[in-house]
Amino acid sequence: MDTHSTENTETSGFEPKIMAFVCNWCTYAGADLAGTSRMEYRPNVRIIKLPCTGRIDPQFIIKAFENGADGVLVSGCHPGDCHYTTGNYHARRRWIGFKSLMEFAGIDMRRLHFSWVSASEAIKWVDLINNITDTVKKLGPFMEYRGLKEGCREAKT
Ligand code: FES
Repeated sequence: MDTHSTENTETSGFEPKIMAFVCNWCTYAGADLAGTSRMEYRPNVRIIKLPCTGRIDPQFIIKAFENGADGVLVSGCHPGDCHYTTGNYHARRRWIGFKSLMEFAGIDMRRLHFSWVSASEAIKWVDLINNITDTVKKLGPFMEYRGLKEGCREAKT
C-alpha cells in the first residue's frame, strides 16, 4: 500500500486537524483581521501563537503530529518584516533542514506548510487555511505517524 495515500475521505466525514504555529506580529494579526472582518474559512485550524517564527522548534511540529494533527502550518512575517529582525530567516533555514529530515523519514510534505502572512493579509490567511484543509482532507488522517508512535510505545513495554 502506498503510505502517502489513503482511501478517499472527502465523503467519509473526515475533518482534518490543522495546527498552525504563527508569529504574534504578522500572521496572528492577519488571522485576527480575518476574524474581525467576518471572513469565513474552514474551522479545522488550531492556532498556537508564538512571539516570532524564530521561536519555532522542530519538536513542536513533531509533538503536533504526535498529538493528532493531520497537517501543520508555520507562518510568520514576510522576509524583512520580522519584528525581531532576523527571526523568520532563522525559521526558514531551520525549516529547510527539518523538511529534508521529514521527507527522509517518509512523511508526506503535503502535510507540512510554511508561509508568510502579514497583518494586512487576511484574504491570504483565509485562502491558505482553506487550501491546506482541502489538501490534507484528500490525504486522509495521518495514520502512518500514529502507527509509528504506537509501535514505539509497544516496543518499550
Ligand atoms: S515577528 Fe513575525 S516572524 Fe518574527
